[in-house]
Amino acid sequence: MATTLPDLQDWRFTIDVEGIAWAVIDRKGESMNSLGRRLTEELGEIVKAVEGAALKGAVKGLVLMSAKDTSFIAGADIREFEGFDTEPKIKEVVKQTLELFDRIDKLSVPVVAAIHGYCLGGGLELALACDWRIADREEATRLGFPEVKLGIFPGLNGTVRSIAAAGPVDAMTAMLTGKMLRPTAARAIGLVDQLVPTRHNLRWAARKAVLQKRRSAGAPWWKRLMLKQPVRGLLAKQMRAKTAAKVHEDHYPAPFRLIDLFERYGDDPARMRAAETEMFTPLMASETSRNLRRVFKLSEMLKAEAPKGNGASSVQPRKVHVIGAGTMGGDIAAWCVVSGMQASLQDLDEAQIGKALNRAKGLFKKRLRDKTAFDAAVARLIADPQGKHVKHADVIIEAVVERLDVKQTLFAKLEKQAKPGAALATNTSSLRLEDIASKLIDPGRLVGLHFFNPVAQLPLVEVVRGEGTREEQVRKACAFVTAIDKLPLIAKSCPGFLVNRVLAPYMMEAVRHYQDGEPRDKIDQAALKFGMPMGPLELMDMVGLDIAAKVGEELSLAPKTESVLSTLVKQGKLGKKSGSGFYVWEQGKPKRETQAHYDPAALDKLGRELVKPMLDEAERALADKVVASADHVDAGVIFGTGFAPFRGGPLHYRRTQEQAESAPAAAA
Ligand code: NAI
Repeated sequence: MATTLPDLQDWRFTIDVEGIAWAVIDRKGESMNSLGRRLTEELGEIVKAVEGAALKGAVKGLVLMSAKDTSFIAGADIREFEGFDTEPKIKEVVKQTLELFDRIDKLSVPVVAAIHGYCLGGGLELALACDWRIADREEATRLGFPEVKLGIFPGLNGTVRSIAAAGPVDAMTAMLTGKMLRPTAARAIGLVDQLVPTRHNLRWAARKAVLQKRRSAGAPWWKRLMLKQPVRGLLAKQMRAKTAAKVHEDHYPAPFRLIDLFERYGDDPARMRAAETEMFTPLMASETSRNLRRVFKLSEMLKAEAPKGNGASSVQPRKVHVIGAGTMGGDIAAWCVVSGMQASLQDLDEAQIGKALNRAKGLFKKRLRDKTAFDAAVARLIADPQGKHVKHADVIIEAVVERLDVKQTLFAKLEKQAKPGAALATNTSSLRLEDIASKLIDPGRLVGLHFFNPVAQLPLVEVVRGEGTREEQVRKACAFVTAIDKLPLIAKSCPGFLVNRVLAPYMMEAVRHYQDGEPRDKIDQAALKFGMPMGPLELMDMVGLDIAAKVGEELSLAPKTESVLSTLVKQGKLGKKSGSGFYVWEQGKPKRETQAHYDPAALDKLGRELVKPMLDEAERALADKVVASADHVDAGVIFGTGFAPFRGGPLHYRRTQEQAESAPAAAA
């Protein structure tokens, strides 16, 4: 009997002297394990070998584990999805994998999944086909079903198996939200059967589980009761309402189809299995899912801008110094601290630092898991009114008032104090980088790091390259942005960079419609219906109407004569911060007209009109080479403004529209 399978590339397989088969996932040439074709085929060979050995009584059990620090299996390999572009092709691949998972499920010997790192999507579905799941409690370990974010739901019988393991409420919540669960949370709901402290304990625990023939008991009786009618129907109704409060069914159908699946077949696993494939396949083949996969790839593309390897610019920054503790500076420093760095915060006004430190505590509470992590974060955020930490910082970010003379003087001083390799960055949103750098001895050192407000919510940072900025500084800045878990977009130094340049015409178009008599709520509803995260008038109120007007002026977009916008600003109605603008704001929320209902077709038309100037400007920005490619334009606009992700980005959307319009003509 073969105790090894020497030809495997993505797995290592051995049967030890105790008769335990160890299948170790180690996808060749990748830092992360994903469920690719070869990996799945090789798993088939492993299962075959174990089936054969089990028949002869030569194996006591099988353990699946990973050799990677990062992941058990972090999901399906979406690079391979492009090949599955038709429903029959999708069904074929799904069928093969389902059969394989069923063979694992039915193996006569116990199968244990020993989980460290990301265990997501298809990886979790594989783990659920095993008899017993052990996870370590390490920070790197996370379990979840992120499928809805890609416009699909678990399609490898993960719907049926997760409900059997965790019960309908917890399993459906995990699948509908796509949230990644810490090991303790996964254990609490039943997706995991056993926890061990660290990855070093996994092997021993898995061995024991095999020898003791452990099998998961599944969800307890009281959870299973909820699968019966009428409870299941009521649950489905609640889930639908909750989901509809977050996303529009026309834009994101996947969670709604998952609820339909559960409602129809929740208490009949055999029928639910078959229906899962039937309902999964059209979602997977849909334009929405293709676009959402595109968004995922765009984020990977931006992450790859950061240098890899051991070059000087790939050194991990540890200490950040931020000057200006206002809206932006305070939040940037707090975000760096959440990402594990030390941040010192400087401001002329000590009260501003105090306010920023308080605000930061709110972020720490939300983001960090326990009191120890919270206390450590508070200790890493240092009030530094005198700028004593400048000389120790790896990255120095300026976020003071938007005045050229102030920034020039500041940088001339900083250049002398900063250590030689430290990155010098400005968060300016409208000043020319070349002008700010002009008073430096080494102007090539200055780079722009343009964060978006609110810092904690928007994943993009524009890395602005001035005419003289050295490439090495740009790379260093990208590495920093990636290290704080944001997406870097390299942009040319020009008015509005990419994001504000593309966003401003959209906002001004909304003002124009408002001025022409379109109701405020209709304008914002139209944008939401198109798929924007927030209406443009509400967005301007959030940003501040004074700032919005200034951006409009800088980009020569504001109306030359008196406009609604300039009148509001003159009246001191600046939006959320002053309590009124386009809306009246109460307790941080805008008051809307409750009775306002508009014809859907009229909303669609208005939505397209609002977005058109944005698409036009995206085209012009591409022609002006503000960023490297059309994909970079799309990435910047999606991650910097929240532009309807399911439409795949402004340029992609326009190309798709054009193709759709020309298709009938071409066919004729
Ligand atoms: P802010 O007015 O809220 O804060 C500026 C802070 O800088 C104040 O606390 C002030 O006391 C301090 N300050 C002024 N001169 C200083 C000096 N010489 N040394 C130390 N501290 C000094 O301003 P905000 O909104 O945070 O903007 C800061 C920068 O970020 C600006 O360049 C702005 O263009 C840019 N920005 C702003 C965004 C926003 O939405 N507010 C978005 C992206 C960039």
